Formats: sequence, C-alpha cells, structure tokens
Amino acid sequence: MSRRIFLGTTTAALAMPAIAGLVGTARAEPRKMTLTAAPTTVSLVGGEWPDTATWAYNGTVPGPEIRVRQGDTVRVVARNNLAEPTTVHWHGIRLPNAMDGVPGVTQDAIPPGEEFLYEFEAIDAGSFWYHPHFNSPEQQGRGLAGALIVEEAEPLAVDRDVTWVLDDWLLRETAQIDDSFGHRGQMSHGGRIGNTVTVNGRIPDVFGVRAGERIRLRLINVANARSFSIDFGDLKPQIIALDGQPVRPHAPSDGSVVVAAAQRVDLVIDMEGKPGDVVQLTDGYYRGRTYEFHKLVYEATPPLRESPLDAPITLAANPLPEPVLDDSAMRQRIVLEGGAMGRFPAGAERFFEQGQFWFVNGLPDKGRKEPLIEIAKGRTCVIELVNQTSWEHPMHLHGFAFRVLTRDGVPNMRKEWLDTVLIRPRQSIEIAFVADSPGDWLFHCHILEHMAAGMSGLVRVA
Ligand code: C2O
Ligand code: CU
Repeated sequence: MSRRIFLGTTTAALAMPAIAGLVGTARAEPRKMTLTAAPTTVSLVGGEWPDTATWAYNGTVPGPEIRVRQGDTVRVVARNNLAEPTTVHWHGIRLPNAMDGVPGVTQDAIPPGEEFLYEFEAIDAGSFWYHPHFNSPEQQGRGLAGALIVEEAEPLAVDRDVTWVLDDWLLRETAQIDDSFGHRGQMSHGGRIGNTVTVNGRIPDVFGVRAGERIRLRLINVANARSFSIDFGDLKPQIIALDGQPVRPHAPSDGSVVVAAAQRVDLVIDMEGKPGDVVQLTDGYYRGRTYEFHKLVYEATPPLRESPLDAPITLAANPLPEPVLDDSAMRQRIVLEGGAMGRFPAGAERFFEQGQFWFVNGLPDKGRKEPLIEIAKGRTCVIELVNQTSWEHPMHLHGFAFRVLTRDGVPNMRKEWLDTVLIRPRQSIEIAFVADSPGDWLFHCHILEHMAAGMSGLVRVA
C-alpha cells in the first residue's frame, strides 16, 4: 500500500449524527429504529481514490450512532440484507441473555432477507458499541460496527460530546478490501492488522477545536485486531471511563491513551491552546510504526473561556453488583495457549485442520462440548487468566462488567471495571464479577481471528 493512502484529503471529522434519543429536558421514549446490514459503497480513503465496497449498517461506515438515556429501552429491528446470516451483539452493555446476539447460543442467526427485534433496557450509562457475531472477522472487517452511547441521567457539563470510532482496514492498491479473511497467518499471529486507519470512517486528518472548550471524547476501537495508543501532545486528557464504566479521573499512565480492540476510553480534554494552534496527535502502539493521527486545529475565534471550565468530571457509578471476595466465591483458572511461537496442549495438532490454533484450558472452541465455567446465579466468580502464548489478547466477557483485581499478582489499585481486558504475553490477570444474569455467555479474545481460530468458550450461569 502506498503511503498516500494514509494521507487523504482535508476533511474535518464530524461527530456522527445521533438517530435516537432527544437532547433537552422534555423527552419521549426513543422510538424503534431499524439497523439494516447491507453491501454499501463508501468513500473511505477520500481524495482521488476510488470508493470502497463495504458491508455497512444503514449505508454508513461506521453505522449510525445510537444514543439513548440511561433507563431508556433500546428497540432495534436488525434487518439482514447481506447474502449470509448475521446477528447484532451489543458490546459491553448488560442485557438479558436472549438479546446478546450470539448465533447458536442466544438466538438463531438472522437469515438473509429477515429481521430480528432487539429490545433491552439501558441500565448502565456509558460508551458501548454494536457489531455482528456471525462470521465476525469478515463481517466486522468489511465495516459492520457502530457506537451505542447511553447518556447519564445527569450528563457531564462539557461543550462538546464527541465520538471517535477507530477502525483499521486491510485495503489493496485499488482501495478495495483485501479478501484474505481467514488467512492462516492472520489467525495464528496477531490477527488481521490493516494498512489504513479510519476515524468515523475517514482517514485521520483535521479536527477543528475552539480555544477554551471542554470536550468529552469517546474512543471506541472497532478494529478486528489493532490496538491504538494515542499521544495527545501537550494536551492533558483525563480518563473518566473505561469500557463505559466510570473510573476516578486520571491522566493516562505513560502519557498515551491505549485502546485495545473492542475497548472504549472516555476522556475529558480542555483545549488549553491559543487560537490558531495546531496539535498533531500520533498513534505509536506498534514500535517503529508511529503515524500521524488527527491534527487538532484551533479556530481563529477568541477563546470560549480564559481558564478551564470549573465543573466536575467525575461520573456517577453504574449499578454494578460488587464481587464478594470471600470463600463463597468460585475460583477458576483459565489458561491461554497456542498460536505462532507458542506452547500447545497435548494433542493440539488434531484441531489444526479445522483452523483451530488457540486453546483455552486445553481445548479450542470447536473441540469443546462443555462450558468453561458453570456457576450458580448470584455467586461471585474470580477468574485467574493466564496467558501462556507469545501474543497479547483483549479478552472479552459478554453480559457482565468485571473488576480487574491483580496483574501478575500485584494488586491493581484502581480496580477498574472492564468488559475487555488486554493480557500481555505470559501475564496473568485476576478478574471478578457477580454472575447475576442467567444464561450462556461468551468469553473470548476480541482479536476476531483468534476468536475464530479457537480462543473462545462459554460461561454458564444457572
Ligand atoms: Cu464485541 Cu463477543 O463481542
Ligand atoms: Cu487473542
């Protein structure tokens, strides 16, 4: 891919329009909306590059931002205009099992030409997202993903609430999607890492800001495999939520904001520069491959205010049940093995022919008949996750948020709630959650090629 594909034209990135919900005081229940998955051609790279044939929700990449208020009922008819089955999974939001969108587990896949009604109450506020859970590497890799924003009952006082949906595409020189989905090299290494990054469906370029304004920025990583580490230059972003769940506001630990595949980070940023200033953001997650991300360009207009807005940036906690860490908790060790340069459990080779290279407690997804964990409803589950592979894995649990208790045995002071935790090679991480919602819930790596190649299992709550 030539490097011009990274440059694009000058396009200000705009927030995606919200299609449900209402701004203001008097408000009605959000209406029922339809999300139609269909092949769609969009201008992805811009400039003189040809349009790109994608698969998209409602004709846009990413799909429409769905915005509701905490406590609202989300009502979405998912219509399948693809040539293959699909579903919609609501990533990170707690909902009844039957609405979780996992084919063969919580519902039958929606056949081409048919519909399925998703309906659930948005009990948690925060930044979430949606994507298919059928043929995931390809359906998500061709563009099916969108943001689901649940506003707090009392939203933070900010001047702008902005969503950046981060995505990564593997394009050929014709700006068309490379169709090497399921390629063994991608499956057994770091997943499908692309050559073209987009923010809200556009190549990163210019993002206009105003001196003195306070922005709430929601970063949502919908890439198949890529992680981001955004360096905001002289700005001082404060992290206020991770995976939609509030945390005590803090600066990113090494200055950059890391967002692994499927994760979300909510930031509050005060634009403390002067009119006319330019701040070049960069993404340096992969060593030696740092590239220019958005350029923040201050308008020439006078500052909105002279000193940063004097308003709290701490979000109220969501109503999550607190894990009970005594003898009543169930403790389960989950060991990840396999992949390139990895160790394998005995007998692993018999699964290679089925494209299964990743193993969870000795078996790949296609080789397992039983759930990984069976737990009684209401009990606390503590998982010791052990990564014996040579790769990192953003591990995602459906249906619950979990607290991160320790990393390599060291207590985690922040004890953040996540739904997707990045585990480094040879690391072990302890997480805990209350199994308060009955059903079969997936636990899998969100590098979609790893999930498809075996790194997945079920947690059964009964
Ligand atoms: Cu984003 Cu199985 O999920
Ligand atoms: Cu993985």
